[in-house]
Amino acid sequence: MNLVDQIQKDFLPKHLAIIMDGNGRWAKQKGKLRVFGHENGTKAVRRTIETCAELGIPNLTLYAFSTENWNRPKLEVEALMRLLVSSLRKELKQLVKNNIKLQAIGNLDSLPNKAKKELFEVVEKTKNNTQMTLTLALSYGSRAEIKNAVKEICNKVKNNIISIETIDESIINQHLYTQNLPDVDLLIRTSGEHRISNFLLWQIAYAELYFTDVLWPDFDKKDLYEALINYQNRERRFGKTSEQIN
Ligand code: FPP
Repeated sequence: MNLVDQIQKDFLPKHLAIIMDGNGRWAKQKGKLRVFGHENGTKAVRRTIETCAELGIPNLTLYAFSTENWNRPKLEVEALMRLLVSSLRKELKQLVKNNIKLQAIGNLDSLPNKAKKELFEVVEKTKNNTQMTLTLALSYGSRAEIKNAVKEICNKVKNNIISIETIDESIINQHLYTQNLPDVDLLIRTSGEHRISNFLLWQIAYAELYFTDVLWPDFDKKDLYEALINYQNRERRFGKTSEQIN
């Protein structure tokens, strides 16, 4: 049976998140500069968005740039920002055609003006799309996100907008960047690293984690299908016993 036929369409993750890792090593293996890996990483981004849209996965979140990534060599950071701008330009048509809404999470103020402008333009032009929400995590750090949420909630308590007693998990959710997204069901990390790297710490509380040795630029449809089939064969118990689930 084809891999794609093994995927149960009514049991797809509602929210798939991906840590796209291994661009640098992929380039190094080919004797090229790291930027070459990032350039080819954008092709894997496009394939992944297309495949998720085809399958009907409603939410896809990609870790494109972490707060820690600012510490990379200046030339690499500049190249990544340039790639972001050019990819946004190139992909707008596809996003509109496929009814995909683009949004971004993270400390977006810290992005270069050109990147911000392009990003906000695509966000604006796709804001009413309904088939899929594509979220780019840019200058994103989960601890900073949680810290901001705590500050906002404290301010609301201080100003008597909410009371301490009413603070529950849903209030915290509402103050995260991801307030309009469901919890992550499946988190994929490529390149053989087994780390979360400050990505969606709150939102992955019950996510299934999937690690593959494939380097991000090589990550293709088949690899995504394999991850989804693996996910669908897991028993998600959410703290209950196997007997309670079945
Ligand atoms: C990790 O590989 C990848 C990144 C830090 C950037 C991800 C960016 C892209 C896939 C391309 C641009 C994205 C968009 C959305 C336009 P690494 O550099 O850490 O690889 P290494 O661990 O092998 O060094």
